[in-house]
Amino acid sequence: MEIRSFEDYQKAYNHSVEAPEEFWSNVARSFEWHKPAETILEWDFHKPEVRWFSGAQLNITENCLDRHLATRAEQTAIIWEPNDPQEAAQHISYQQLHSKVCKFANVLKQNGAEKGDRICIYMPMVPELAIAVLACARIGAIHSVVFAGFSSSALADRINDAKCKLVLTSDGSFRGSKVIDLKSIVDEGLQHCDCVEKVIVLARTHESIKMHPGRDLWWHEELAKAADDCAATVMEAEDMLFILYTSGSTGKPKGMVHTCGGYMVYTTYTFQTAFQYEPGDVYWCTADIGWITGHSYIVYGPLAAGATTVMFEGVPSYPDMGRFWEVVAKHKINIFYTAPTAIRALEKADISFVERHDLSSLKTLGTVGEPINEEAWHWYDENIGKGNCPIIDTWWQTETGGIMITPIAGITPLKPAFATLPLPGVQLALMDEQGQELTGDNIEGRLSIKFPWPSMARTIYGNHQRFKETYFSAYPGYYFTGDGCKRDADGYHRITGRVDDVIIVSGHNLGTAEIESAIDEHHKVVETAVVGYPHDIKGNAIYAYVIGKDDLGDEDQLRTEILRLVSDTIGPIAKPEKIQFVSGLPKTRSGKIMRRILRKIASGEIENLGDTSTLLDPAVVHSIQQGAL
Ligand code: WT7
Repeated sequence: MEIRSFEDYQKAYNHSVEAPEEFWSNVARSFEWHKPAETILEWDFHKPEVRWFSGAQLNITENCLDRHLATRAEQTAIIWEPNDPQEAAQHISYQQLHSKVCKFANVLKQNGAEKGDRICIYMPMVPELAIAVLACARIGAIHSVVFAGFSSSALADRINDAKCKLVLTSDGSFRGSKVIDLKSIVDEGLQHCDCVEKVIVLARTHESIKMHPGRDLWWHEELAKAADDCAATVMEAEDMLFILYTSGSTGKPKGMVHTCGGYMVYTTYTFQTAFQYEPGDVYWCTADIGWITGHSYIVYGPLAAGATTVMFEGVPSYPDMGRFWEVVAKHKINIFYTAPTAIRALEKADISFVERHDLSSLKTLGTVGEPINEEAWHWYDENIGKGNCPIIDTWWQTETGGIMITPIAGITPLKPAFATLPLPGVQLALMDEQGQELTGDNIEGRLSIKFPWPSMARTIYGNHQRFKETYFSAYPGYYFTGDGCKRDADGYHRITGRVDDVIIVSGHNLGTAEIESAIDEHHKVVETAVVGYPHDIKGNAIYAYVIGKDDLGDEDQLRTEILRLVSDTIGPIAKPEKIQFVSGLPKTRSGKIMRRILRKIASGEIENLGDTSTLLDPAVVHSIQQGAL
């Protein structure tokens, strides 16, 4: 049942709670399956184990490509907008995309890729990235896309964790006025990986690079040898589709595992429902395919829905702060989906950057990745939407695979800075500190989900125990999101931010533990504590408290070295905004760092630190207060 009114939404929602299996089996009917499901849902959040559409067989690319050929072969599937506005945009039809995916799937096969093999993709936002993702899915290989802003050692960790056999990359990438030498980052990373047999390199920047004989192959040369047709490998609904890494509050990044059937059904349904996509609409999500937003809402959801989806290679500030709006006018974008951090940065630029472009094609706006503050919401509404476009504030996670809480565009009455209501199929629970579910309205608690939805992650690759501990142990029988949430008197939800040691910086998820261990690698560092603090544009910024050895030397020099270390270990996105050298950290008698205190000092609340009676050594706090930046 399509949702066309708020009443439809309420009916659909109630149906999804009363008869979830019937609800989702109805939704699943609009896809192409080789075999229908025998069982719609089996689940146990204590193990945890979740299986959707057991027994069903499919290939997601047949749903994204083949089935559209009868009705929309000539329709544009992907519009690609390059980094440099002088370079021509590309319009790739469904027919062309189908051919390109099949041909590249053959490239993968001729290089030994088989069903179940893991393939790492480390590429800029060029059409070949989407083609590579779909080509993996075509042959049942599991893609692990690593955002091309991560460092060589972050890349190597991810390649080793998933034991990838192939790496797909490019010579380099264009980002604004910068040219980044991706291939040498790959080369450096691969010095620490034994599992990789071949690297297929796309020529994008045409800078001269080193090719390792026997290992590295040129994309175009491989394509020239490949056959055109490639039958889709038939997959079980619960077979793995991809792995995507996300940061956690402890330890190394977690390889979240998503499976074929449920992920396809949920991303497509939520794309159509939340954005109210209509045939002919041009849709642009500004995310990178290196993140879940790009997987679900640039590639899979929109293509399965037969939409026209835009891929943008560049950055919002190049050649000037009007680039987004120029692209909106150029491609007559109807639906525009971006991150609050981009909105806040663009809001700071002169309004003439907006005014000089024709934004009249826009009908729906979206945001994702972090809470949007009211001011940014109103600026977006008034200046971009001209007061005429619903804004859908979509809350979800890498782990959820698809949008969970959001207004339905044009249907759900909006409230600025509220993600509003759960989509059909999403059963929320707000928990109190004691682990009891809070009921009713006007409450605040920890956001959990008490019933499975089709696109939830099934496990952490190679570590099911960690999956259980991270998400299913805080409140047994519930999936715990890590976020705080308010439900107001109208039953509307507002996400208040992370309640664990994950920091969302410019919409990117970073774990404090990862950054701390990167800094601790420096030979002059004894111990580090990292916290987040509010930042105007980034949402949060990183503040590092560093205990150095006795002979620190030049502090500024050491700061520079620490920044480089973080950049090399994780990537530039993880660099601390502020580094304070301290002589000790506030610890409890049991040795736990009291981050609450450090967060307060970082956010400038230096005086009122609350209860410090459990501190081992209160003098430490005093000296940190004195030296606060
Ligand atoms: C975390 C997940 C979902 C794709 C991009 C991020 C925060 C996400 C919102 C929103 C408030 C949000 C949460 C969440 N978050 N969307 N609309 N309002 N917070 O995916 O990297 O897995 O991060 O992003 O804290 O837990 P991710």
